[in-house]
Amino acid sequence: MASHMSTESDAGGFAAFGMNFASEREAIIGLIDKIQVAEACAGVALSSWAETCQIPALRGGLRMIAEREAFHGRIFSQRIRDLGAECQAPLDRFSIESEACIADPNLTDLEKLTSLVERNGDPETLISPVLAFAELLTEDLETKEALKLYYADEISSGNWLRDMCRTLGGKQQSASDTIPHAA
Ligand SMILES: [Fe+2]
Repeated sequence: MASHMSTESDAGGFAAFGMNFASEREAIIGLIDKIQVAEACAGVALSSWAETCQIPALRGGLRMIAEREAFHGRIFSQRIRDLGAECQAPLDRFSIESEACIADPNLTDLEKLTSLVERNGDPETLISPVLAFAELLTEDLETKEALKLYYADEISSGNWLRDMCRTLGGKQQSASDTIPHAA
């Protein structure tokens, strides 16, 4: 995610993701704007998948995770507005590709799940940069705590998807197959 964030060097700036932002606020807006659009779109995609999913156990989790994604989108889009900014980030390419897979009528539920799990890789590796970012925040404690709970939700969702993939017999992935991407 860091590679997509704008940079602005300033002696009084805020350093995160190996970059220096004009302020903590600017860094926050840049990050949560990308999160809110990805989460909102994932919520819609997972909810639609749940409607057609033929595996009850999978469907039960998809519905829960879809709601999580949707409310993450709502929380962070509202937070951007609270901070006096606008939601304007485009959906990232990784999310577009993931959602195309989820919506592909030619794939089975297990094929979709396996693809999703393989693409996401290790949940901790994927989402830990968000927690590290949250730990850096010293001014905006409201966003800090929202990001920490977002991290916990994403770890829970990611681990559940992995466990369900194993339970249903999806192809196992190796750590070397993981593909890092924006949260
Ligand atoms: Fe998510």
